[in-house]
Amino acid sequence: MATMVWKDEYSVGNDLLDEQHKQLIETVNELKGGAALGEVLAALRHYGDVHFRTEEGMLEASDYPDLERHRGYHEAFRTWLEDTEEKHRSGSESAESRRDIYNYLCVWLANHFLVYDKAFETWLK
Ligand SMILES: [Fe+2]
Repeated sequence: MATMVWKDEYSVGNDLLDEQHKQLIETVNELKGGAALGEVLAALRHYGDVHFRTEEGMLEASDYPDLERHRGYHEAFRTWLEDTEEKHRSGSESAESRRDIYNYLCVWLANHFLVYDKAFETWLK
């Protein structure tokens, strides 16, 4: 599996959000090392919450017209994360499930940055 790396095209033109997005990528990449799946998922849930709150707060403060839909994307991610944590709570993790989860997270993040977060780049400026 290819490692996800930050690209300038992911930038949403806001330093704090970009930094948090980089941190999310770093957290996801811990799966490529020896980190336990459950620990990475828990860190992602914690850090994702912090980040989503920051991002939604900025969108709310600027009266972003598509905020509710954007919240929905974040919510869907939370739900996926909770389900995935639940599924692996027993401690069972195969190399295959690790790889599938890693791939899912990389695709989700890249797509979210490039499509849904990009959509508010101009609005926040
Ligand atoms: Fe977002």
